[in-house]
Amino acid sequence: MRALLAEVEDRVRAKFSDQEGSHDWFHIDRVRRTALYLQSREGGSPELIELAALLHDYSDHKYNGGDFEAGAKEVQHLLLSLGAAPNLALQVAQIVNIVSYKGAKVADQNTSLEGQIVRDADRLDAIGAIGIARAFSYGGSRGRALYDPSVAPTLHDSKEAYAQDKGHTINHFYEKLLLLKDRMETTTAQRLAAQRHAVMEQFLAQFKQEWNPGSQDIS
Ligand code: ADP
Ligand code: NI
Repeated sequence: MRALLAEVEDRVRAKFSDQEGSHDWFHIDRVRRTALYLQSREGGSPELIELAALLHDYSDHKYNGGDFEAGAKEVQHLLLSLGAAPNLALQVAQIVNIVSYKGAKVADQNTSLEGQIVRDADRLDAIGAIGIARAFSYGGSRGRALYDPSVAPTLHDSKEAYAQDKGHTINHFYEKLLLLKDRMETTTAQRLAAQRHAVMEQFLAQFKQEWNPGSQDIS
């Protein structure tokens, strides 16, 4: 098992080494470490959790031309080619397939405890101080405005509409990031999410104060 994990880590590290800050190797590594921390409190198979965390963004629809299922198939083939047991390769692929957020009005698919842990860990990395930094890194990489008060958020009801949205980055908080706290499934992640959520609320209040000159000046 150690050999398989080490090989997967090398592949993932190489693939993500030149990605921008919202989706680089450090994101993958933080999700892995957070997922293993959640495992230490919640249980589940550490091997399955670590492999799924390492591979959860291996072929993301935002970077592979828009195919949502292709990522899971690619991961399954990779693991089989590295000698993983077919059942393990299938379980990892099943988790990779359900991790991604698909819109405010799109329910998350049911999954195993290991799937819940990896999804919670990925979402914890999308909120709080790191979540704020990642959102603006992603928006910057796509040439998006920080904010445009004339463009209201959209609560997307399909994964296609969510994926095609090209709005400004502040909207992303209302379309996804502020909604993640209530979608955490493990108790440990719910606790961590509450604190990170408060950091985002404080950030947004401050951002809007600064956007409106004078609104901050109470003297
Ligand atoms: P998931 O891990 O659920 O698939 P994504 O891959 O959609 O999430 O998002 C990964 C990172 O990119 C997150 O930090 C997220 O906030 C950021 N991101 C995704 N879409 C946008 C967007 N439209 N604007 C700003 N940041 C975004
Ligand atoms: Ni991710």
